[in-house]
Amino acid sequence: MCHCKGVTSRQIDSAIMAGAESVEEIGASCGAGTKCGGCVPLIEMLLESRLSLNAKIETNKGSVPTPQTPAPVHQTAIHETPVQLIAS
Ligand code: FES
Repeated sequence: MCHCKGVTSRQIDSAIMAGAESVEEIGASCGAGTKCGGCVPLIEMLLESRLSLNAKIETNKGSVPTPQTPAPVHQTAIHETPVQLIAS
């Protein structure tokens, strides 16, 4: 992602997971974005995406999703429904 410093998006992800919350903190962590600045818009996009995802995960912590159970099938209704034959 950062050609000047040879930093991959995975390394930037690791910096974010380690607590980096700004382009400057990512730069301090792995060097990305600290030379020409050409990759900074991409770093910002990745940062925004990851922080947004982390916020959603934090919001949903503690709420266990309820498994969706299918509506009960009424076996009797199926058996009581007359079969219609279609003549061709
Ligand atoms: S490409 Fe990242 S600082 Fe130049």
